Amino acid sequence: MNADLDGPQTLLSETGARILFVDDEPGVFHGMQRALRPYRTEFVLRSAQSVPHALAAMRQWHPTAVVSDVAMPEKSGLDLLRITSADETLSRIPVIMLTGSAESDLKRKALDSGAVDLLEKPIRAEDLVARLRSAVRLRRYDDHIRTENTRLEEQVRLRTRALESSHAEMILRLAIAGEFRDRETAGHVCRVAHATAAIAEQLGVNQSTLHQLMQAAALHDIGKIGIPDSILLKPGPLEPHERTVMEGHCRIGWEVLRLDVGTGASPFVNTILSPPPKAGPTTPANDVMSMAADIALHHHERWDGTGYPTGARQSDIPIEARIVAVADVFEALCHARPYKPAFTVDRAVATIEEGAGTHFDPTVVAAFLRAVPAVLQVFRRFADAAPSAPTTHKPARPAADHTPTAA
Ligand SMILES: [Fe+2]
Ligand SMILES: [Fe+2]
Repeated sequence: MNADLDGPQTLLSETGARILFVDDEPGVFHGMQRALRPYRTEFVLRSAQSVPHALAAMRQWHPTAVVSDVAMPEKSGLDLLRITSADETLSRIPVIMLTGSAESDLKRKALDSGAVDLLEKPIRAEDLVARLRSAVRLRRYDDHIRTENTRLEEQVRLRTRALESSHAEMILRLAIAGEFRDRETAGHVCRVAHATAAIAEQLGVNQSTLHQLMQAAALHDIGKIGIPDSILLKPGPLEPHERTVMEGHCRIGWEVLRLDVGTGASPFVNTILSPPPKAGPTTPANDVMSMAADIALHHHERWDGTGYPTGARQSDIPIEARIVAVADVFEALCHARPYKPAFTVDRAVATIEEGAGTHFDPTVVAAFLRAVPAVLQVFRRFADAAPSAPTTHKPARPAADHTPTAA
């Protein structure tokens, strides 16, 4: 085997538990070999004559258990225990200490330092075998628990991932379903969601929140599902009372999304969960939905307080909604609609810049200006397919929107 190991390296069996003896006197190991000869199918023996050699053997040979003398020149058996207990991998190997019968203080120190057992010299073969079997059982049980834990962790990771992906997919499908009633394309949802994330990234938002924000932003106009066709699909400008109805999409979206599924606030949701939640707040609040509800309600507010539906201003408008407001308007400006041509990128950027401090949060506009290259990349990635023949389920139609620039 390897040159770092001392002693004759006799293998009594290739299939038994691996036992490493650490003792500076080779005679002790030879005595052990003789004593354990009848158990050669059960234990494979090796020796190391110093702590450094023992550590090398533990790393390379991976013994099932170690039997170490306490008193050795230079580094002692206690040093070996100290080093192994501080090492995540080596600490899993149980160490039995060999002590002289008079060394009672040393025995206590050895147990305190992490030894699993003590053997007094001289050692009787029966005692040694009993202690070795106990240490091997301990190690195998520990290995089993670790393997089980790893398997369960992986299972939880995969299930969590599946749950997250099905959750994200449901959100996107809901958003696309909303867009189907509107003049816009599913590409609008993706572009606004990713543009929102690109701007938020410039504001220092962390990766996990960016993903939540993207999902929430995709639902900004979901309230349009509650707007009557006669208004939503009307060609030409809206009458004032029709505009009021159209502006109601913000509150409708909020009503749809504010249902607090995560906290079990909805009795209906509890009835369709399997297994049903226990009483009390056992599940965390649904952060994406509460963010989406805020965005749906406030994405048409303006920084100066002249927006709708609440007229909130400045920092009273949730930051997520202030970001979506910029992304939504910029997306609308950059894309042709049946009722308007697309702006050039320069003109669209200038329009957003001009709105800083009145329509938009100046800090968000500054982040947007830094994010423009990333936003344009998103627009290219989610570009609409070339227009095809009109279909019956998504009629092309000119219509007045609730704002001239954003959906
Ligand atoms: Fe909207
Ligand atoms: Fe929109």
